[in-house]
Amino acid sequence: MPIETTATVVADVPADAELLAVPFDADLSPRVELPLPAPGLLAHYEAKGEAGEIVEVPVARDGAVGRILLYGVGDGSPKALRTAAAALTRKVKGRDTLTVMVPGGDVTPFVEAALLAAYTFRIGGAGRKPVRALAFAGADEEQVRRAETVARAVALARDLANTPASVKNPAWLAERAAESGVPTKVWDEEELRADGFGGILAVGRGSASPPRLIQLSYTPEGPAERHVVLVGKGITFDSGGLSLKPTANMKLQKTDMAGGAVVIAVLGALAALKAPVRVTGLVAAAENMPSGTAQRPSDVITHYGGRTVEVLNTDAEGRLVLADALAYADARLDPDAVVDIATLTGAITVALGPHVGAVYSSDDVLAKQLVEAGQSADDRLWRMPLVEDYTPALESPIADLANVEAGSTFGAGSITAALFLREFAGDRPWAHLDIAGVGRSTVDDGVLTKGATGFGVRVLLEWLTKS
Ligand code: BES
Ligand code: MN
Ligand code: ZN
Repeated sequence: MPIETTATVVADVPADAELLAVPFDADLSPRVELPLPAPGLLAHYEAKGEAGEIVEVPVARDGAVGRILLYGVGDGSPKALRTAAAALTRKVKGRDTLTVMVPGGDVTPFVEAALLAAYTFRIGGAGRKPVRALAFAGADEEQVRRAETVARAVALARDLANTPASVKNPAWLAERAAESGVPTKVWDEEELRADGFGGILAVGRGSASPPRLIQLSYTPEGPAERHVVLVGKGITFDSGGLSLKPTANMKLQKTDMAGGAVVIAVLGALAALKAPVRVTGLVAAAENMPSGTAQRPSDVITHYGGRTVEVLNTDAEGRLVLADALAYADARLDPDAVVDIATLTGAITVALGPHVGAVYSSDDVLAKQLVEAGQSADDRLWRMPLVEDYTPALESPIADLANVEAGSTFGAGSITAALFLREFAGDRPWAHLDIAGVGRSTVDDGVLTKGATGFGVRVLLEWLTKS
């Protein structure tokens, strides 16, 4: 479900607010009377004003008791403000309305984090509800609306990825894309075959739910500065196929379409953010299942555009569906830049862990833009190298390429996967985001909620609207 918490702007702190949050150092007089001056209270609670600290103070309210939450803002940086806001939302879970006196400066990160921490994915009314309403006192309306648009896009990406795979198959994903508010075009199985999308078909052929290629198109109202293509991995469930995954890890693989979910959510938010760029989204959607019709390790497939690949491991399926979409973008869409986003390798989880995503790029300018956008939008990226010495890992004696290394000379699973994708991106500026580590969270922490994170929505929206 979308974020259930509403975000409104109020001119000033209402004198009768029952639940009110104010920064540690705010001047409250004459509107609110604290039982002791704030410095004394903070000393009593041994609070230092760090981001995430909240001191709860009772105040008299028309014969009843109201509550003031004094919240720390640390050094006041966007990062600190996000921490502070997320802590507030979590603190008032289950309550009706929290009025928040906002910190100074740009409140976009603060409001965005407050809303993201309110995200829940519940099926059939289970669990405790988040706070019903957040009222931001003295906040800039435009900043609040931008934050809300971004937070709702992240929530959509989380919802799509959190949805059980018994509900979401490739056709379902195409229906969700059609609801995004931008024009879509969908290739069904027959159309995929007619147009030669051999990678998407090969991965999808083991499933009772046939694959789809989904295209979404956003055109700005004014002249477009450039044309960007976003490609998302849309594996609605990754069992591994005949190269079957072990039980323990398989249940995490309903989120293997997280990249595709990001592409759908981003395309849907561009109009509200007035992005000056033309953007085409491609979601390569398939379910990777073992069956009598599944592809086999050792099969050779032909991708869009004619390149052949020897499939040595059917669990390296993400690169097979992405290869088709990348080749199609290069041959048919004439983009100025292509960015793909995918829960591609377990190896990147080992390298960068759950808080930092990987970016690979053939283009230094594009890589720098994405790393910087990630820094300001709070989807942190680290640039990884496309190590040329490792390209022999993907040589095949019988096809143009193999989808994995036959032996174990090179390892470097995330890097070799990126090298594979590069073969299909053509000579255009291209970047690849491996979000396998950051695509899901095991804990509720700060702006993250347990399950899908929507990682990628914020960095891509930042990049498409600000650089
Ligand atoms: N979807 C997985 C990657 C993944 C792993 C995502 C863990 C999220 C959490 C991908 O399709 C995969 O299976 N990759 C293999 C590649 C290997 C067979 C070369 C992997 O990482 O083990
Ligand atoms: Mn796999
Ligand atoms: Zn996968």
